[in-house]
Amino acid sequence: MKEIGIVISNPDAPSTRRLSFVVKKGEVVRRGQFVQIETEEGLMVGRVSDVIKTNRYFSRPESVERYESSQSMKDIFPVDNWEYLNAEVIPLGIYRKDENIFSDVSIPPSPGTKVFEANPELLKRFLGMDENGLEIGDIPHHNVKVTLNMTRLLQKHLAILAISGAGKSYLVSVLAEELLKRRKEDGQVGIVIVDVHGEYTSFASDPEYAGKVNIIEGKDIKIGLSKLSTQQISEFLPKLSNVQVRELSRFLHNLKEEKSHYSLEELIKLVESDGKIKSSTKDVLITILTDLMNTELFDLSDNPPVADIVKQGVLSIIDLSSFIDNRKKQMVVAHLAREMFNYRRENKIPPFLLILEEAHQFVPETARAENAISRGIIQTIAREGRKFHASLCLVSQRPIQLSTTALSQCNTHIILRVTNPYDLDHIGRSSEGITKDVLNQISGLRVGTGLIVGEAVNYPIFVRIRKRMSKESGKGIPLEQAAKRFAEESKRIIEDAKSFM
Ligand SMILES: Nc1ncnc2c1ncn2[C@@H]1O[C@H](COP(=O)(O)OP(=O)(O)OP(=O)(O)O)[C@@H](O)[C@H]1O
Ligand SMILES: [Mg+2]
Repeated sequence: MKEIGIVISNPDAPSTRRLSFVVKKGEVVRRGQFVQIETEEGLMVGRVSDVIKTNRYFSRPESVERYESSQSMKDIFPVDNWEYLNAEVIPLGIYRKDENIFSDVSIPPSPGTKVFEANPELLKRFLGMDENGLEIGDIPHHNVKVTLNMTRLLQKHLAILAISGAGKSYLVSVLAEELLKRRKEDGQVGIVIVDVHGEYTSFASDPEYAGKVNIIEGKDIKIGLSKLSTQQISEFLPKLSNVQVRELSRFLHNLKEEKSHYSLEELIKLVESDGKIKSSTKDVLITILTDLMNTELFDLSDNPPVADIVKQGVLSIIDLSSFIDNRKKQMVVAHLAREMFNYRRENKIPPFLLILEEAHQFVPETARAENAISRGIIQTIAREGRKFHASLCLVSQRPIQLSTTALSQCNTHIILRVTNPYDLDHIGRSSEGITKDVLNQISGLRVGTGLIVGEAVNYPIFVRIRKRMSKESGKGIPLEQAAKRFAEESKRIIEDAKSFM
């Protein structure tokens, strides 16, 4: 391995928590790079948290000012020979070769010990990479692929957090590619993306993936009324009073006795023709049920059935881009998530990953019940899903608005660029293992780079997300291009119209 420096002695370092080394002349050391140092306990692996340049010729302000006012110091002294690069390192752990185990650092290395670039093979094992895992990118400054073990990444849920435009959906596409690439013998899960902007539908027009992709358009989605219990219907209508719920339950009971499938129209007719119900209750119930009917979401049975949505090695895209009403989106997500969870508990569908874009809309922290129809079931999956292999991936640009209950159950966080100080603070508190120096770097991340913390990795690591293989949708095209495309299309429409006249 390449030697890059020597551990130096400071008043309070080297310690088990931090150390510095002076970089060998001609070598380059960068922030974020991993290094290895031999210690009494074994091989220590550390991360460079910062690099500082020093030069004793320039350490006294009065002499620098004096000399430089008459002549450049460079002309008088060999200043270049006295510039040193000092790297600060945070020790992460120890590899004990004889026992082939990793342990915590309990003894610092001695001053004067040589520092080496970390060995890629050691680094892979040290960070917890899995050769057969999901390859989402590589580690900056090292020739090491980030390959995450699927169970560690997904079983206890994943959150992808960043500001708008930082690359969340791009990363989701990379993840989907990796999951679709898995062979039967590797273990395949069913993947479901709730696509609020219709930006994943391009998967279906990519020949490489089309055969494994299933697009479900919003207008085709139906919730089967006949299967719903009173409690499930009241989840869609959190404002119902106890009396209204009781009456609704009676009507549903009567309908269920009569037939196995019934519509909202039939339910409304039954309410209208009932003689026992108080007229004020009747009016409210009819108004509320008519309102529900107007969503055009309800039918005799579910379409498509959940067993057609969740299939091993298949990506189902629930395209809700045609829905404007938030409540309608939440109703679809609430129903879908509940069905998926119940079927999974009964082992009627395969283990799955449910990816929620704009997750703060579906599992908000503070919204009132009527604006948070899907919150209950998503929180339930977050809490109990792992026992049943029902995994969530919550994607959000507003972590602070995302339910803390749900977010704290996501054991892995992938954080791309985040700039809002409140969001950063929230992330710092909700992601275990993030040190201050790491947190400070999040606001400076470039598009396509991120930080992985939690269950999926042994230590927080920065990752450069790999290029996607699948076709990118036109939704992300630059403003200029969109404006030109609009003008061209308008021109074509006018010309077409003229040729008809
Ligand atoms: N790893 C990457 N490599 C190359 N380009 C990327 C990468 N990640 C993102 N981009 C580009 O950056 C742009 C924004 O990415 P993306 O749509 O994924 O952002 P986002 O975080 O999902 O934003 P929003 O919150 O608005 O949905 C896209 O045009 C995408 O092509
Ligand atoms: Mg996005």
